[in-house]
Amino acid sequence: MRLMQHKREAYWFYRYLSMFYDKLVNPLFWTERMREKSLDIGFWDDAEELTVIDVGSGTGFTTEGIVRRVPSHNVTCVDQSPHQMAHAREKRELAGCTFQLGDAENLPFDDDSFDRYVSAGSIEYWPDPQRGLNEAYRVIRPGGWALMIGPLEPVNPISKFAANTWMLFPPEEDYFRYMETAGFDRIDYTYVAPHWQRNERYGIAIIGRKPKPGKSPNHYEAVAEEQSLVAISDEGVSLGRGLMLAGRVLAGSAAGFIFIPMALVASVTAPLRGIDAEPEPLNKHQKVALAAVGVVAAVFIVNRLSRRRW
Ligand SMILES: C[S@@+](CC[C@H](N)C(=O)[O-])C[C@H]1O[C@@H](n2cnc3c(N)ncnc32)[C@H](O)[C@@H]1O
Repeated sequence: MRLMQHKREAYWFYRYLSMFYDKLVNPLFWTERMREKSLDIGFWDDAEELTVIDVGSGTGFTTEGIVRRVPSHNVTCVDQSPHQMAHAREKRELAGCTFQLGDAENLPFDDDSFDRYVSAGSIEYWPDPQRGLNEAYRVIRPGGWALMIGPLEPVNPISKFAANTWMLFPPEEDYFRYMETAGFDRIDYTYVAPHWQRNERYGIAIIGRKPKPGKSPNHYEAVAEEQSLVAISDEGVSLGRGLMLAGRVLAGSAAGFIFIPMALVASVTAPLRGIDAEPEPLNKHQKVALAAVGVVAAVFIVNRLSRRRW
């Protein structure tokens, strides 16, 4: 499994990333335009009546799009990270939502509980994504829809290698297989990408309907409670496991943070690279980060040039 495709590693990764998440990460990689396009393939008629579960809801960025479509008191947010959830709880527009710590692979709800299931950008961390999709099937009512949004495996071999070392970037056919195996029918999808990406198949929003009540035809036992969730933060770990955990989180975080300056530069250079999609403007935090990248690059170049002279 990849560096961050583990519950404990993801927990510690988000312990710190949650501080920058809404300021730097989402506005680059999972933008408002991508979110709206993804949610638009959902079915939101009779919105007043619909109950929605948002799994891996994090700081509530996707939930903000959901509550534009259904009343917030109909929405339940589930995440394994209390740190991410703390940011979501602070958002005024999410005040009516229910917040519940929980594991995507072992959802703390009865069968047939919700009308809609949404999960955005969380599958990358699930050790057993098929089990997560089986759970999506189980908790929605017959006739209900599950919308899964996630990244696609990059095409460029270097990016593909980096992405696959870091976390789960499933190829397109895997998303279809997860949905079909879980038992969903009437599967539909759309692709999403930030404006600075040339590759239109950067991410996918895929939706399926639950035809029959109860558990997924592929249901298998939920993960053991002690491996599932919040206990992961309290429980002691052996020295070996602790070192491995720290190594994975540090390497995974470094890999993640490298993508931020790369995406910032890609964002401002998009028109120069012949990408004519309408840009999504940088916010003030991104501008500061970009300026910092510029200063570091300038210092590096001046340093190299002055060394050459001598
Ligand atoms: C990239 S964030 C996406 C957050 C949010 N959906 C959004 O649109 O911004 C991924 C989230 O998935 C959560 N997560 C990872 N593994 C999980 C699991 N097994 N169960 C529940 N949440 C999980 C993380 O804590 C994190 O908040």
